[in-house]
Amino acid sequence: MKPSPSRRDTEKDALEFEFLEGCKKSGTLNIDGVKQCVDHNEIQILGVLGSGSCGVVESAMVRQKLMAVKTMYKNDNKENLKRILRDVRIMSLCNSPFIVTSYGYFMFDSSVKICMQIMSACCEKLLRRIYHSKLDFFPEFVAGHIVYSAISALDYLKEKHSIIHRDIKPSNILFDDAGNVKLCDFGISGFMTNFMAHSKSAGCPPYMAPERLTIETNSKYDVRSDVWSLGITTYQLVTGVYPFPLNDLEFTTLTIIANLNLPSPSLKEETKRNFSPVFIEFLDLCLRKNVHERPEYKKLMKNDFFLDYDPASGDRYKIKQLNETENQVAVWFNDIKKRTRAEDELKPMPNTPCVN
Ligand SMILES: Nc1ncnc2c1ncn2[C@@H]1O[C@H](COP(=O)(O)OP(=O)(O)O)[C@@H](O)[C@H]1O
Ligand SMILES: [Mg+2]
Repeated sequence: MKPSPSRRDTEKDALEFEFLEGCKKSGTLNIDGVKQCVDHNEIQILGVLGSGSCGVVESAMVRQKLMAVKTMYKNDNKENLKRILRDVRIMSLCNSPFIVTSYGYFMFDSSVKICMQIMSACCEKLLRRIYHSKLDFFPEFVAGHIVYSAISALDYLKEKHSIIHRDIKPSNILFDDAGNVKLCDFGISGFMTNFMAHSKSAGCPPYMAPERLTIETNSKYDVRSDVWSLGITTYQLVTGVYPFPLNDLEFTTLTIIANLNLPSPSLKEETKRNFSPVFIEFLDLCLRKNVHERPEYKKLMKNDFFLDYDPASGDRYKIKQLNETENQVAVWFNDIKKRTRAEDELKPMPNTPCVN
């Protein structure tokens, strides 16, 4: 029996329509400012760069341009289609030095390929390489550069497109060889109305803010939940550990995060490394459990720690240019890559959530 028109899933129909509309632009790539119609057979896959919950990212050569190609498989599930379309739509929309640039995409019946600027490594992989080679975790100046870049990207998304990222974690923050830091992965991002997100759309629970883990507030939150995720990510990058006890039962961890009566993690308690008071205070602000006490981007952008790593701050800018092509972050990054092993990227490390 055919379903009656009223029983049709109109949201799914709209998504299918958006997919078909998207197909019209399939294969039109904008490579270095030149629009070109490319056949998918021209994509020469070179190797795997990474994989996550939604797809696989490979390095590829397309018309003599080295790029990263993310392949996502389409199935009959509405959430899967939503996720793919969001990633395509938002990547195509963005134009920021702090967000991975998209060159265009290919849409097929059963899969979608996004062609994008190739980056060198995500922070999750760097962490693993550092851990397995027993080197020092991310230094404070690199954390400062990441915080400056990520907040600039998140503020751009909010102000220009009313978008909230919702999936800030080490694997979605990428470095290139020049030390530039950019965000990727918009599969679970959302559009806001009245500056609030209105969906319970999943993210990665260990990085979710307390208000997203609480039943009364989990469908009404704002960009400050990304501030929390950035705080947890930064804490993990500089200490090498996730700041909450990780049990087999994820539920226990999430209960501890959501309980406003239990203290937030703080670098004040860190004994192995010495961090500056401005950095400690900045992270404490990002990790305020009560969302009403947690600052928004504009306030964070006036914070001393942020200003120290904002190149527009003039003399107080802390990242030194060491020669014509390299600054301190690039030198640190390339040194880590030299002194660690690529095969360790796939080996998990203890005391961190195993997520991609
Ligand atoms: N442009 C890129 N250049 C290099 N590596 C990338 C790029 N985009 C993603 N990656 C790698 O692939 C992984 C998965 O990509 P992501 O877009 O986060 O997919 P998922 O939605 O499956 O999490 C990232 O964590 C990163 O290691
Ligand atoms: Mg990801």
